[in-house]
Amino acid sequence: MSRAACLLVIISLMSPAAEALDNGLALKPTMGWLHWERFMCNIDCDTDPNNCISEHLYMQMADVMVKEGWKEAGYEYVCIDDCWPSHQRDAQGRLQADPKRFPGGIKKLADYIHSNGLKLGIYADVGDKTCAGYPGSLGYYEKDAQTFADWDVDLLKFDGCFMNRALLGEGYTNMSKALNNTGRPILYSCEWPLYEWPLKQPNYTAIRETCNHWRNFDDVFDSWSSVKSILDWTAAHQDIIVPAAGPGGWNDPDMLVIGNFGLSHNQQESQMALWAIMASPLLMSNDLRDICPRSKELLQNKRIIDISQDSMGKQGYRTAKGNNFEVWERPLSKNRLAVAVLNKLETGGPRGFNIGAAPGWKICGPQCNVTQILPQYKEMGVQTQQSKIIVSVNPSGTALLTVTPISSDFTRLHKLNWQGTFVRRKHTIL
Ligand code: GAL
Repeated sequence: MSRAACLLVIISLMSPAAEALDNGLALKPTMGWLHWERFMCNIDCDTDPNNCISEHLYMQMADVMVKEGWKEAGYEYVCIDDCWPSHQRDAQGRLQADPKRFPGGIKKLADYIHSNGLKLGIYADVGDKTCAGYPGSLGYYEKDAQTFADWDVDLLKFDGCFMNRALLGEGYTNMSKALNNTGRPILYSCEWPLYEWPLKQPNYTAIRETCNHWRNFDDVFDSWSSVKSILDWTAAHQDIIVPAAGPGGWNDPDMLVIGNFGLSHNQQESQMALWAIMASPLLMSNDLRDICPRSKELLQNKRIIDISQDSMGKQGYRTAKGNNFEVWERPLSKNRLAVAVLNKLETGGPRGFNIGAAPGWKICGPQCNVTQILPQYKEMGVQTQQSKIIVSVNPSGTALLTVTPISSDFTRLHKLNWQGTFVRRKHTIL
C-alpha cells in the first residue's frame, strides 16, 4: 500500500487527532452570514447607506434571515467583519463601535439579533491592527474578550494581521483563554494557521484545542478561480488538515460566495457541494435582501445541508483525480457516504462519469440505495457491486450523491473506499 493510501486508511479509522476546544460550541459546522466578501470595508454611509458597514446592514440581514427561511434552514450567526470599530478606544481602553455607523452600539445590535432568535458575531485581530487598519487586540485580550462578553456577542472572528508570526500561537491561545474566562460561550473563529503556514507547518493539535474553526488559506473572492484554488489547496494538504476536523473544531475554507456575481450556477453548485463534503462552516457572504431564487434554493437545499451537518462530523476529502474529473467523498453517519464528482473541464458540454467503474472501487456491496442531489434530485434506486452508474456532470459543475447501505451485513463502505485502490488509480477514471 502506498504511503498516501496508508495515511488515508488511518484518517478513516481515526477520530479527530486532538481534543476540541471545550466550550460546547460548533458541534456541527457553523452556519450563518458574514459581511466581508460582499460588503468589504465599505464605510461610506453618506453615499451608500444601504450597503455600508453599519448596524442597519446586520439588522436588515437578520430580518431577511427570519422572513425568508434562512433561519429555518439552519443559518444562525449574523457576523460583523472588519471596519466596524472607531479608530480610537474609549477612555477605559475598550473597543467601541464607530458612533456614526453604529449609533445604538453593539450591545443593542446583539439584543436585536437575539430577539430574532439569531446570534451575533464580531471581528478583531490578534495583532496591533486589524487588516484594514482598525485597532488590534494585542495587549488587550482580556479587556476585549470581556467587552465582547458584556455586549452578549456569540462569535469572535480573530484575524492575524500586524502580528509577529512567532507569537501567533501565544496570541491565539491567550485570547481563547480570555474568552473562556468570561464565562460566556463565544464561538472562536481563528486565522492562526493561515498566517503560520509561511513560517512552518502549523500544529493542528494545538489549533483544535484552541479554536472552533480556523482558516488555512487565502481569502475567497467572487470567482471560480478563487474557489478552485481553495479546493486545490485543501486537497494538497488533506493528509495534514482532515484529521483535525470533527465536532467542536473545523477547517474553514472561507465564505460561500453563492448568490453574488462571479460564479455561474454550476460553479455555485460546486461550491455548495464541496463545502458540505469538506464539513466547512457555511458562512454566506452575499446580499440576502436581493438574491436570485436559484441561488437561494441551492443555499437552502436541505439534502446538502444535511450532509454538511452530519452528526458524525468527519470531513471528506479528494479520493481520485484524472481526466479533468475529481471525486471527493465524505463518510456520513449510519455508514452512509456522500460522493461529489467535479468536472474541471471548462469547455464543451456535460460529460458522463461512471462512478462504479474504477478498479477496486464498488459503489456498494452487496446492496445500497443511491440518491442524486445535484444537479437535480433523483432517486437512483437499489444498486449492487455490479452496478454501473453514469452521472452527467456539467463543465465546472458537480454531481452530488449519497450512498446508503441496505444490507444487514453492513458492508463497510468507507473502508472499501479508503483502502487505497481508488486513490492510487492513475487517470483511468473513464
Ligand atoms: C483578512 C481576512 C478576511 C477579512 C479581512 C478583513 O485577512 O482573511 O477574511 O476578515 O482580513 O480586513
